[in-house]
Order: sequence, then C-alpha cells, then structure tokens
Amino acid sequence: MISKNIQELKAAFEAELKLVDLNASTEIDAIRVKYLGKKGLVTGLLKQMGTLSDADRPLFGKKVNDLKTFVTSEIERALSVAKEAALNQKLESGFIDYTLPADGIGAGSTHPLYDVREEIIDFFAQMGFEVDFGRDIETDWYNFEALNTPPDHPSRDMQDTFYVADKVMLRTHTSGTQIHYMETHQPPFRMIAPGHVFRVDNDATHAPMFQQCEGLIVDENISFAQLKGVLQVFMNKLFGPHVKTRFRPSFFPFTEPSAEMDVSCVFCDGSGCRRCKGTGWMEIGGCGSVDPNVFKNCGIDPEKYTGFAFGFGLDRIAMLKHAIPEIGLLTGNDQRFLSQF
Ligand code: PHE
Repeated sequence: MISKNIQELKAAFEAELKLVDLNASTEIDAIRVKYLGKKGLVTGLLKQMGTLSDADRPLFGKKVNDLKTFVTSEIERALSVAKEAALNQKLESGFIDYTLPADGIGAGSTHPLYDVREEIIDFFAQMGFEVDFGRDIETDWYNFEALNTPPDHPSRDMQDTFYVADKVMLRTHTSGTQIHYMETHQPPFRMIAPGHVFRVDNDATHAPMFQQCEGLIVDENISFAQLKGVLQVFMNKLFGPHVKTRFRPSFFPFTEPSAEMDVSCVFCDGSGCRRCKGTGWMEIGGCGSVDPNVFKNCGIDPEKYTGFAFGFGLDRIAMLKHAIPEIGLLTGNDQRFLSQF
C-alpha cells in the first residue's frame, strides 16, 4: 500500500515535469518546491515514517530516499536544459556585444616622477654619463663648503635648511654629489646625480622634499657652448623638437659664469599665457662652468681641466609635462590623481 503511494507519486512527478515548458526555470522551480520543499509531497512521505512498524520502516525509508534522489536529479537536469535554452535564445537574438571592453583588471601604473627620472637617466646614459645617486644626508663640507659657499650664505640659515645635527643636514641640492664624485674620480668624466633634496619651504610650487638631477662634465677644453648644446638637446628630448632654450646670467657660488636656463613655455609655445605669466618662458634650472675653487677643493687641477654643471627639478619637469598645477599632488598619494597616469 505504502510502496504503491511512492510509485504513484513518482509517476505524477514525471507526468508533471513532462508538461512543463523546459525554457521556464521558474515553473521547474515551482515543481521542486511542490515535491521537495518543506511541506512538499516527498517530504510528506518521509514524515510518515514514524507511523510505520519497525519491520516496514527500513524498506520504506530506502524507497522514499531513492525517490528523493530521482526527483532532485530530474529537476537539476531540467533546470540545466532551461538555462542552456535561455542562453541560446540570448545568443540568437544577438544582443550580446562581444566588442564591449572586458571588466578592467585594475593594473597599476608607474608614477609620473619615476617616469621622468627614468627618461632622464636613459637620455644621459646614452650620452655616456655615469649615474651616482649620492646620499640624502650630507655634511657641511659637501653641501656647502666644498661648493665654494661662504659661511654667511643665506642657504645655510636654519630657516632654509633642515639640520640633523651640528654641520649635518638633509641635502638642499644634489650638487654635493659632484664633490663626492670628483674626490673619487679623475677627469675626464661625465656624471648625473638624481635624488631627493630638502628645503624648509611649502606652497603650491615648493615642497619640503622634491627631486633634482645634477649633471657634471669635466675634461680638457670643456666650454659653455657645449653646456648649452647638451641642455638644448635634453629639453627637446623632454618637451619636443619645437622648444627653445635661453640662458640668463645668474649666480651660484660653485659655478662661474652661472646661468638660469629657461625653455619656451610648453603650454603656449612662447606666445605668452597665464602659466608663463605672459613671458613665453619657463625656468627649468641652474647651470654654469665649474668654479676653479671647487676643482681645488676636490684635488682637480683647474689649470688643466674645465667643466660644466647643471641642476634642475624633476617635480617641475613632471608638472610641465602633465600640466600638474600643484607640486603636492606628486607626493600626496591620492588615487584619483595617480590613476590618471
Ligand atoms: N644646485 C643649484 C640649485 O639647487 C642648481 C645648480 C646645479 C646650479 C649645478 C648650477 C650648477 O638651485
């Protein structure tokens, strides 16, 4: 009697599943609930177990379980047919656009300052310059004295320089690396020294820490004309073939003569705009012929050798290249800014 119930239920289930539209997973799901749900028919049979004698119970249990397995697998099969049919229908109706970009994988990118530094190193390495990163902490000798900077020079003031101890400081420029290099190398040589520098300064265009790159060439008969040539080619590499350079007389204790170098404004091409304050030019860095006193301080014969040196800010170059309005953005670690590169 009881096993007859089971058989009838199985037949009813099969009949019902046959009638269902196999495309409609909601209908299939309704059948699942009807048979296997908490109050479902198969579940109901299991509940009858308690009313059976000990002798009948094992066989009955097995049969109901077999039915349950059967119903479950039939429902699963029907659902997978329905799923495939739905997908085929979608494909046939043609509204899947395979040309849409895939979800982004969120790859990172290199920092604009890092890119500028690599570009500079590549450029000068190709011209035979050695790279010396120097050190962030310098003594008074390397940062000032050997660079012919007198004791009363304003840059030695506590207000401009971060002192770590007496006569020990965070370097205020990369020029000290010139001294380290000249103390340990005899000319002819050419080197660049990129690195961080520190000054007591903080506004839209000045940061307490920024990066510079120093350059130095020493040989017999090195002239200011060669300095201009190297820097002109370098500016063309950084900003394009159309930019011009100009050199304005200036003063640095460690070069004589000294100059500030400007490039034609990279935004207006020299015609004058808000960013170049109408002048058509932008300041890039300092340069000059190595002062004989600096050679003497490093044990290089100033009668025999001449040289030129230059120094410029990497942050400034990155700002000009990408029209970045504030230097602080470069070290602010703001994802909204960084993800633009
Ligand atoms: N050290 C100078 C500065 O920080 C730049 C400079 C470097 C000038 C080399 C001349 C020669 O402003």
